Amino acid sequence: MGCLDPNVLLKRGAPYSFGFGTDAKEFRKYQRSPFRWFAEAIAKQFPPEQHRRVADVAGGPWGHSARALKAVGYRVVVMIDPSGRRLPGMSLRKRKFRVHDALEFDLLVGFRPCGASQKLIRAAKQVPLAFLPCGCGWVWPSIVSRGKKYAAAPMSGATKFFHICGVPFTRVGPVFMSRPALR
Ligand SMILES: C[S@@+](CC[C@H](N)C(=O)[O-])C[C@H]1O[C@@H](n2cnc3c(N)ncnc32)[C@H](O)[C@@H]1O
Repeated sequence: MGCLDPNVLLKRGAPYSFGFGTDAKEFRKYQRSPFRWFAEAIAKQFPPEQHRRVADVAGGPWGHSARALKAVGYRVVVMIDPSGRRLPGMSLRKRKFRVHDALEFDLLVGFRPCGASQKLIRAAKQVPLAFLPCGCGWVWPSIVSRGKKYAAAPMSGATKFFHICGVPFTRVGPVFMSRPALR
């Protein structure tokens, strides 16, 4: 008989539900240091030498993702978050992200960006984006069916919104990487 301990089952299913498919090794690396994993995955797709100005949108008060981006070689990292804090070597815009902010940057980064998620995906029509969906469950207007609102699961909700906005993407584990066709 198989093991029915829910914690074990959850752990077994985790690489799938986190978007890692069958890649349990990458999933374990992500679990150990999610911000570092995220920054390294971004640097592979969008080399720091070619993407000088990076916007870390909704990085939160501790700036973990901004620090990880600096550590993998991005020179200019600007944090945009109303609840952000000033950190050494990084500039902060203590306000909400607006779609037209995107044009100032070579790369947009959103690590679980909650309320900025839809704006980031819209902005990805013009500027490359690395985006990890938030687990807080956005409710997509398109998922109103027969008068009922459904909160989409993070991965499928994000996929749907990329499609709605007509933004092509590739996936690296749970991260959506998008590069606009014309810049
Ligand atoms: C779940 S926290 C994520 C923090 C961090 N990225 C992390 O993963 O630990 C969401 C952050 O999004 C920020 N936020 C929400 N709406 C935003 C918006 N429209 N523009 C910029 N930041 C926003 C909040 O201030 C909060 O710090």
